[in-house]
Amino acid sequence: MRIAMIGTGYVGLVSGACFSEFGVDVVCVDKDSSKIEMLEAGRMPIYEPGLENLVKKNVDAGRLSFTTDLATAVASADAVFIAVGTPSRRGDGHADLSYVYGAAKEIAAAVQGYTVVVTKSTVPVGTGREVERIIAETRPDADCDVVSNPEFLREGSAIEDFMRPDRVVIGTKSERAEEVMRELYRPLYLFETPIVFTSRQTSELIKYAANTFLAAKITFINEIADLCEVVDADVQDVARGIGLDGRIGRKFLHAGPGYGGSCFPKDTLALVRTAEEVGRPLRIIETVVDVNAKRKHQMAEKIIAGCGDDVSGKTIAILGVTFKPNTDDMRDSPSIEIVAGLQAAGADVRAYDPEGMTEAKEMMDGVIWCEDAYDAMTDADAVAIVTEWNQFRALDLDRMKDLLSEPVMIDLRNIYNPDEMAQAGFHYVSIGRPATLSAPA
Ligand code: UGA
Repeated sequence: MRIAMIGTGYVGLVSGACFSEFGVDVVCVDKDSSKIEMLEAGRMPIYEPGLENLVKKNVDAGRLSFTTDLATAVASADAVFIAVGTPSRRGDGHADLSYVYGAAKEIAAAVQGYTVVVTKSTVPVGTGREVERIIAETRPDADCDVVSNPEFLREGSAIEDFMRPDRVVIGTKSERAEEVMRELYRPLYLFETPIVFTSRQTSELIKYAANTFLAAKITFINEIADLCEVVDADVQDVARGIGLDGRIGRKFLHAGPGYGGSCFPKDTLALVRTAEEVGRPLRIIETVVDVNAKRKHQMAEKIIAGCGDDVSGKTIAILGVTFKPNTDDMRDSPSIEIVAGLQAAGADVRAYDPEGMTEAKEMMDGVIWCEDAYDAMTDADAVAIVTEWNQFRALDLDRMKDLLSEPVMIDLRNIYNPDEMAQAGFHYVSIGRPATLSAPA
């Protein structure tokens, strides 16, 4: 089995490497020749744990290669995956499908023999039909089926998510295409992974419904956390107390500074637009988008409040700027608004992130970028944890007290224990938890 993966962004590169690990011959295609050169030299354009080794192993085994030559890669492929970007269109929040449609045209011109064209990019309902139309228009003689096969990979654990998925979703009514897709995912049958075969539109919608549901779940617990703060309850216990109910589930109930990243913000907005357009507005998701957007700004206010309501002339240490740990991705990270809010209130910001600083430097002005967490805290008046990198979970509290001019920590990820922080002499503020709890008996 041979496949061509069009687009070596996050999804394309991880999926391509993982399919090659399954034993499939994979050619990853990108227009960006510098990216292809980089990959050929064994360097990864993104930070994802395990990816570099997986790529190297499969390149060495001759199952994975990289090229800018789409036509040759497509001509010999049994299946061609479209994994190009679908960013939010400027101004209206709709998914920008120009890259998907551009790829469809080029693929159509190059296909030879029966080929399954698979959309892996997150695309609004109906995109598969348009891809099919473009292919038929460009090459009326092409023998293709267009299938939807959304991905559910999380940045930072994408390889594990691909290799051990909760499910695989495949949207097609063609038996021939179904056979090819079954063959590609055959190794997952060994783990009895559920494969949901459905129509193309349903598959396209499953992807958006999954992401918007998860965004709503996070936003729900974030609002409950705000309520906890006023009624003196503990959101961590609320999350556990409701999460143990199998109908609710424990995952994605961590209160924090609001969701960010390359998917939830873009996908929630895109589904809201799709629903508006067809006259079936999604009130819950509209509210989720609105509440989450405001939350990021409120987090700057929370830090300011933790510093005694005034940060003018003060220095705040920020630990973590990426939207979550184990990634260098800064897209829609809450840190962007938090830092801007603190600076607008007159604070100086010293920041450290293990992987995100190169990207963050391009997006944030006036920040002093530091060597490590302790360097960031040197002579700062307070420290705020914005991203829960493992290396921030066990900081030396005594050393921190020596470095900080005041022992103040605002923990937006609830990775420290309020009791222990109080005992260590910190003014400790977290999300949705009483400032100090009574010591356990
Ligand atoms: C998300 C989905 O989880 C994947 O299944 C999906 O494939 C992907 O989008 C996509 O559409 O490509 P990702 O954006 O990598 O994956 O990251 P998540 O781990 O889902 O986190 C998203 C945001 O939610 C982060 O800002 C994170 O800090 C926040 N979050 C997550 C919380 O605030 N609380 C939680 O309990 C979980």
